[in-house]
Amino acid sequence: MKTLSETSRSILGAPDIILNTREYENMATEDEIPKCFRLLHPIGFFAFIVFLNMPLFALFLVLLLLPRTFSDSNSMIVTYGKPINYTASFSHISTTWEECVGACYQSLSCVVAHTPESPINCKLFDVSKVFEVEKLESSSGLLVAFKAINSGNTCPIGDNPPTFGNSKNQGTASNQIANYTYDIDYSVGDTWQLSYTAIPVCPSGWTQFTRPSTNGCIQVIGGPDVTYTQSEALTNCENLGSTLTGLETIDERDFVANTGIALLGQDYPEYAGFWVSGTRKPECYTDGWEGYSYCTGTSLQQFDFTDGYLTNYAGFTWDWQQPDRNLNGPWANCIQIWIRNQAKFPQYYYTLFANGNADDAVCDVVDYQNYHLRGFACGKIPEVPMGAI
Ligand SMILES: *[C@@H]1O[C@H](CO)[C@@H](O)[C@H](O)[C@H]1NC(C)=O
Ligand SMILES: *[C@@H]1O[C@H](CO)[C@@H](O)[C@H](O)[C@H]1NC(C)=O
Repeated sequence: MKTLSETSRSILGAPDIILNTREYENMATEDEIPKCFRLLHPIGFFAFIVFLNMPLFALFLVLLLLPRTFSDSNSMIVTYGKPINYTASFSHISTTWEECVGACYQSLSCVVAHTPESPINCKLFDVSKVFEVEKLESSSGLLVAFKAINSGNTCPIGDNPPTFGNSKNQGTASNQIANYTYDIDYSVGDTWQLSYTAIPVCPSGWTQFTRPSTNGCIQVIGGPDVTYTQSEALTNCENLGSTLTGLETIDERDFVANTGIALLGQDYPEYAGFWVSGTRKPECYTDGWEGYSYCTGTSLQQFDFTDGYLTNYAGFTWDWQQPDRNLNGPWANCIQIWIRNQAKFPQYYYTLFANGNADDAVCDVVDYQNYHLRGFACGKIPEVPMGAI
């Protein structure tokens, strides 16, 4: 293995390869003919190109190395072939194949570039618009380049680039509608198949949180002049295609509590309660409930949750001496969290009564002497954007 480092050089007699000020490492393993190059970018960027044992292809070893935000590990893999199933393509004015490949590389939405060797007629194919590319021999004179990820910093090997021995390659790309991952599969006939998966996102107005089983989206609703029972809160969430959210983490709790404070506004005088997911199980409030160990103490198992994606419940931090069940008379079978205006004043330290602490509350009562049920927090899982695939 040899390492080259220069601004511009010839390989095996081929015309100059312009690598600008980048270094690259020759990853050739078998003979003297390079097959693959890893370009070393100052910020960790790397890219591969496959040479198909053809020195002439050294000509195509040009990648334009711009800092990328969403596809740092993508590279362009060059071979022969032509797209045979696609719904759109567009022409790019390129005088050389390198420009054509570079244009695809730089475009966040492009996944395949294609042209005859001569004359150059560069066509770019966007994510979710091209599905199948026929593999051809060099005699076809038809060039194709795939944008793909090469995992693990290793040079691909095998003779079916970009899938290399019938395994899959992946890529990432994005258009106006969504971000996608895609697989490039070489298993049927002499073609590569591209299949796309749009990455689910939280719609606008929802904030994303990470959970062990999935990501979640939370939206907090409420205000200084409104009140909601728990069932009204639940209905409101359901109308938004969601349910009341549980509190998986302290992050989620703090988000709901701090958003609640913002919704109530600077002038809101005192406390408020905001509903979150959690309704006490029937056996935990009917006669004999003490006989079930999970109904006692602070166990969250005494509640059912409409939020079906809870794992750790760590955002439910009980207020002092809570939950207190029917201590004040009626059973308090739903869960609210406290929105405390004191949280606006960090100089005061409320250990026992932190903003966002949980309390069991009577499900259909909204007005108390000192506070009112002023809002709720909805949750749902991220969705594939409409029209993405
Ligand atoms: C083209 O690809 C799409 C998506 O995979 C597929 O549904 C369609 O049947 C393909 N068309 C042809 C003619 O193979
Ligand atoms: C794609 O992902 C980027 C980075 O996470 C994000 O900023 C952008 O909004 C996403 N695009 C779409 C259309 O979802």
